[in-house]
Amino acid sequence: MDFLEDESAAPWWPAPGLVQHSAGYALGRYRDELFDRHRIEHPPALREAVPKRRAEFLAGRYCAARVLERLQANTAVGIGRHRAPAWPAPVVGSISHTADRAIAVATRAPGVLGLGVDIEAELDPVTASELRPQVLGGDDERWLEHPRLSPQAALTLMFSAKESLFKALYPSVGEYFGFEAVGVTALDHERQRVGLVLNAPLPGSRWPRGARFSADYCHPAAGLVATLVVAGEAAASF
Ligand SMILES: CC(C)(COP(=O)(O)OP(=O)(O)OC[C@H]1O[C@@H](n2cnc3c(N)ncnc32)[C@H](O)[C@@H]1OP(=O)(O)O)[C@@H](O)C(=O)NCCC(=O)NCCS
Repeated sequence: MDFLEDESAAPWWPAPGLVQHSAGYALGRYRDELFDRHRIEHPPALREAVPKRRAEFLAGRYCAARVLERLQANTAVGIGRHRAPAWPAPVVGSISHTADRAIAVATRAPGVLGLGVDIEAELDPVTASELRPQVLGGDDERWLEHPRLSPQAALTLMFSAKESLFKALYPSVGEYFGFEAVGVTALDHERQRVGLVLNAPLPGSRWPRGARFSADYCHPAAGLVATLVVAGEAAASF
């Protein structure tokens, strides 16, 4: 029996031109031979990795391969600098995984400079209080008192939104930047959207202080949240 389950091409964020593939996976059924069976390259960098890391990598790359097939790109996603996925141009995409689920999203839409996707299990109160000072800065904390969300749910959303923004901007920035670089301007539960703003210009001069982004969110399963950020030129559209 394979370790993949509940595989689906149904979009978590419906938008024409944004191709998505998700799959659950069971770590207990992971075996190294599955790389061959699914025709995914087992990179040397993973040889020393624990099975959990190999399994999540395989699940993510499997989803990426399905997405690339639908975009008619026949090169695999490589591993770039800082572990960033290297998508075959002109495809732009992103991968995320939890302990038992993975998703890949990608597009060929002109003007899209980066996509960022992130899945998170809702933070428990202890982890939330540990992460909070690292993730929130300025007056981000005001969103923790949300009429419709618990403080942990609000923090999970802001954390995930910032991680997705990091992934979306990394290809055009090329360097790590921290959570303090990004502020939260809105947490709109009706539209399922987190508003984000840059508190400082990012290296590379493309993204000035004050640049605004939004992270769309959804709940793919109970206790899970997923966010998506599209970073693009003004004319970018799907
Ligand atoms: C890189 C990072 C964002 C990954 O997030 P995560 O929640 O730990 O893990 P996820 O499962 O969601 O994502 C992992 C995938 O992200 C992708 N990824 C890794 N580094 C990346 C980068 N520099 N840029 C874009 N995508 C990256 C990879 O595809 C990776 O999976 P793979 O190695 O199996 O292919 C996170 O580990 C990190 O380093 N964060 C610090 C930087 C940051 O978020 N700053 C906040 C800015 S506001």
